Amino acid sequence: MRRIRVGVVGLGRLGRFHAQNLAGRVPKADLALVVDAIEDTARSVGAELGVEWSCSIEDLLGNDTIEALVIATPTPLHAEMIERAAQSGKHILCEKPLSFGLDPTVKAIEAANSAGVKLQVGFHRRFDPDWRAAVDRMQRGELGDVYLFRTSLRDMKPPSIQYIESSGGFFVDVTIHDFDTARWMIGEVDEVTSFGSSVAVPAIAEIGDIDTALVVLRFASGALGVIDNTRAAGYGYECSTEVLGSKATARISHHRRSHVQWLTAGQAAEDWVADFTERYPDAYRLELEDFLTSVAEDRPVAVTGEDALAAFTLCKAAEESFRLGKTVKLEHRRRNGEVLYDKAGTG
Ligand SMILES: NC(=O)c1ccc[n+]([C@@H]2O[C@H](COP(=O)([O-])OP(=O)(O)OC[C@H]3O[C@@H](n4cnc5c(N)ncnc54)[C@H](O)[C@@H]3O)[C@@H](O)[C@H]2O)c1
Repeated sequence: MRRIRVGVVGLGRLGRFHAQNLAGRVPKADLALVVDAIEDTARSVGAELGVEWSCSIEDLLGNDTIEALVIATPTPLHAEMIERAAQSGKHILCEKPLSFGLDPTVKAIEAANSAGVKLQVGFHRRFDPDWRAAVDRMQRGELGDVYLFRTSLRDMKPPSIQYIESSGGFFVDVTIHDFDTARWMIGEVDEVTSFGSSVAVPAIAEIGDIDTALVVLRFASGALGVIDNTRAAGYGYECSTEVLGSKATARISHHRRSHVQWLTAGQAAEDWVADFTERYPDAYRLELEDFLTSVAEDRPVAVTGEDALAAFTLCKAAEESFRLGKTVKLEHRRRNGEVLYDKAGTG
């Protein structure tokens, strides 16, 4: 398969990780350019990876030899960058969420669709080998009818307050991954009831956000679900899921760097990953590989803009439920093979 010339825009926590993967661990990629608004960052990542660097996305969009880009800038910049990249005919992998607003999200998706470029969204968990293995078995019918879905996404410690202030709020920043997992594994969601608190990190309470949440889901199939999230688990980064069904239960819970247990009198200790980059090296690499395969083979991407829109709408429902102290009901319909959500009311 031919290699795809690709650029990365935004070289912070995640973009640098994507660039490192593209430079050395994704054989289908030919990393051509890295871009960051901060010159020192762009220069140092370019030097580290031995590739061209720039401080402006214009250099990427104007380069006809580059076919695709990864957008990992702060979220408020995503939608406009997607529109500009689509107009330049580049295929796009954009980090979640596509925007903090519904209209810019829809406009960005439409821009990619009408330009005929691929738009994939960074829900990396869909590419993790553990999740994939469980979903493959569920799709073969080995789990039977699902009764209960439970998922936890817990950060060991919060990111900077500056990040949280411009993160779009807890549900949009954190729970969005779990909503996508819930839809992918179980199906569409009819009701969302959420609870939030801000007792773990006082600085987060001071800016009016929450640090911990519970979300209860009722799926269209009749199954129930529960999501728990926190920014301050303390012991490490946890991302685990259980699905209970009529024939089996799937439990995905893998958090160790090594497989050593250290046993002393009356105690057994094991290590635990500290963040998403440690837990998901394979998922982020496979996500990039899958995106570039879609570009090279001109096949649909595995996670679409419409998937991002559905997860975003569920986040907004969770926000509303938390604010009003009520259950939010949702409607969903199919259009051109994609699922679109609408709010149906509160109860
Ligand atoms: N999929 C995941 O697991 C995951 C994890 C973390 C973050 N994210 C998402 O990734 C995005 C970035 O998050 P982050 O934590 O890496 O943020 P970050 O603040 O660490 O990095 C953002 C980078 O973008 C650069 N930048 C800002 N404006 C720019 C511009 N106009 N042109 C080029 N570069 C610019 C900044 O200088 C910075 O280096 C966010 O949308 C976030 O929601 C996704």
